[in-house]
Amino acid sequence: MRSSLESVINELKQLKQEGVEGVYIGDSTLEDLRKSLGSIDSIDYAREHDSGKPWDPVSEKSAQSKGSLTELVKDNTDKPKSQPTKSPPLNQHGKPITPIPDSPPVVVLPEGDKQERWNALREQVLNDPVCLEHLNPGAQVVFGVGSIDADIFFCGEAPGGDEEKQGEPFVGRAGELLTKIIQAMGLSRQDVYIGNILNWRPEMPTPVGNRPPTPEEMAYCLPYLRAQIEVVQPKILVALGMTAVNGLLEHNPNRKMGAIRGKFFELNNTPLLVTYHPSYLLRYASLKIKRLVWEDMMLAMENVSLPISDKQKNYFL
Ligand code: URA
Repeated sequence: MRSSLESVINELKQLKQEGVEGVYIGDSTLEDLRKSLGSIDSIDYAREHDSGKPWDPVSEKSAQSKGSLTELVKDNTDKPKSQPTKSPPLNQHGKPITPIPDSPPVVVLPEGDKQERWNALREQVLNDPVCLEHLNPGAQVVFGVGSIDADIFFCGEAPGGDEEKQGEPFVGRAGELLTKIIQAMGLSRQDVYIGNILNWRPEMPTPVGNRPPTPEEMAYCLPYLRAQIEVVQPKILVALGMTAVNGLLEHNPNRKMGAIRGKFFELNNTPLLVTYHPSYLLRYASLKIKRLVWEDMMLAMENVSLPISDKQKNYFL
């Protein structure tokens, strides 16, 4: 019961990070959730991976709202906190997950041209002991790919199962969709740069599913992402989903994807455009959402002076 509940919580967290702001929960599911919540007194894994804040997948208010649009994974900071159990969170192999060190890695880019600096950075990341320690058996550390002279730098969240096997970002289902989007822009994967907030696949207590990285994991890997941005010096950053936004910009729990997508922010004088994560499109493939993402991509194209044909202007209309 406990691990299936953890899977539900992770799934809800994942949806939230992709930009989902509500899910439909029917009466019978609510009843099941209530029963299972009553059957355990703490959820160590989710709590300890969220800066110690308690998690409540279905808030009190939404648990009362029958069969309605229910707000996702709400911090229930008003409620009295029950003491979390002290056992360390386990990965899917039953081993405790090694805590992330407090001090992030120091990145020193060598003198030299862009390629030499990028090569040195890649070498450092692929050999980083913390990244290596958090790998699933047989998995690889995942570093950014694409052109180091790219105008557009796409930033995702973290590798999934396919990416950790192949050692390359965005090669699974979400990656195939991102590749199609890039092609629809008249580009190829080799013309852009694709990176992630995290360089390894976040460990899970169950063999299936993904979870968003914790703030500690993100803080550890961010110097590596920032260094990639420094080397590539893109004209625009495209943040795919909320994890990318919160990693690249100052974390703000009040941001809602629906409100910030299609908007420009700034990171060290580089414009940063926010859009939905491709996984969100895979889950909610409505024409309306596809069009919104496409409008965001046209904004990115405009920003880097890429031509936009009439045919492209009319996609998904
Ligand atoms: N999702 C991401 O955010 N990054 C990947 O590399 C793959 C899926």
